[in-house]
Amino acid sequence: MKEIILSTEDIQTICKEIALKLKDRFKDNETAPVFIGVLNGATPFFMDLLKYYDGVCKIDFMQASSYSGTNSTGVIHLSKDISEDIKNKDVVLIEDVVDTGLTINYLKQYIQIKYQPKSISVACLVDKKALRRVDFDVDYYGYILRDNKFLIGYGLDYKGLARNYNYIFVPDVEEIEYWDKMSK
Ligand code: IMP
Ligand code: MG
Repeated sequence: MKEIILSTEDIQTICKEIALKLKDRFKDNETAPVFIGVLNGATPFFMDLLKYYDGVCKIDFMQASSYSGTNSTGVIHLSKDISEDIKNKDVVLIEDVVDTGLTINYLKQYIQIKYQPKSISVACLVDKKALRRVDFDVDYYGYILRDNKFLIGYGLDYKGLARNYNYIFVPDVEEIEYWDKMSK
């Protein structure tokens, strides 16, 4: 490992803060907001955020991918759509990392056009703001990463591996080589 970007404690603090903001935002709602996790990467963040959110909500999942190895391909593939009825509901898309912005921008537009919710906001754990290829602002973010680093852990993967860490880090060459071997 080269560097830890977010420790387990950092992540829990972020989850509590965002959960409180969401609770406050929806406290006067007459219908439950729907929290949509973007599979697979957002799974740990989604679960921890929900753990600290003590308001009413429904949950659902979408699956999209644009990454191959350590780079975003820019081509979005939607492999799972939601099943909840979200028309006229408040929706929060929960994502691990927003990088070029292409994935989340695509999902937001897709939901808007297909389902016409009352509102759509986006919460992400890491915002790689400097790498945007589309103009996209995240509503709730945990941490802004200002340089181009490839991150691993807490949902973030390399070739499907290493999502199962409780913290986020920059891997070293030996780790990448090991995962290259193990992913075959
Ligand atoms: P975007 O479409 O370029 O914004 O890419 C966003 C998606 O790429 C996220 O949903 C992540 O799953 C994945 N991603 C972005 N940066 C990283 C990274 O540093 N490590 C692992 N996955 C990443
Ligand atoms: Mg993702």
